[in-house]
Amino acid sequence: MMYGVYSLNRELIMSNVEIYYFSMTGNSLHVTKELQKRIPETNRIPIVSLLNKDRVKTNGEAAGLVFPINSMTIPIPVKKFLI
Ligand SMILES: Cc1cc2nc3c(=O)[nH]c(=O)nc-3n(C[C@H](O)[C@H](O)[C@H](O)COP(=O)(O)O)c2cc1C
Repeated sequence: MMYGVYSLNRELIMSNVEIYYFSMTGNSLHVTKELQKRIPETNRIPIVSLLNKDRVKTNGEAAGLVFPINSMTIPIPVKKFLI
């Protein structure tokens, strides 16, 4: 059995997923952990640990972002990360 995300007809869609997350009060961290339980071989990477990097190289086949909405917009650290 190969781990990963499968389509309904059992085609392997992706494996080695990286989830970049930002959380202040823990809700987005909780969501990230729940995603990890459902998507095997998923790494959880805190966005704040990457803010001093010029470039971020993902090793996953797919990357996801989890973050809250603050004051109707993306939190500043997430904006910095995306730029
Ligand atoms: C200062 C502040 C501003 C927020 N602004 C919004 C908002 O504009 N829209 C929204 O849907 N939720 C808003 N929220 C709710 C957060 O998005 C929600 O509580 C989220 O689950 C927090 O995620 P976290 O625990 O990962 O930080 C706001 C929360 C805070 C503390």
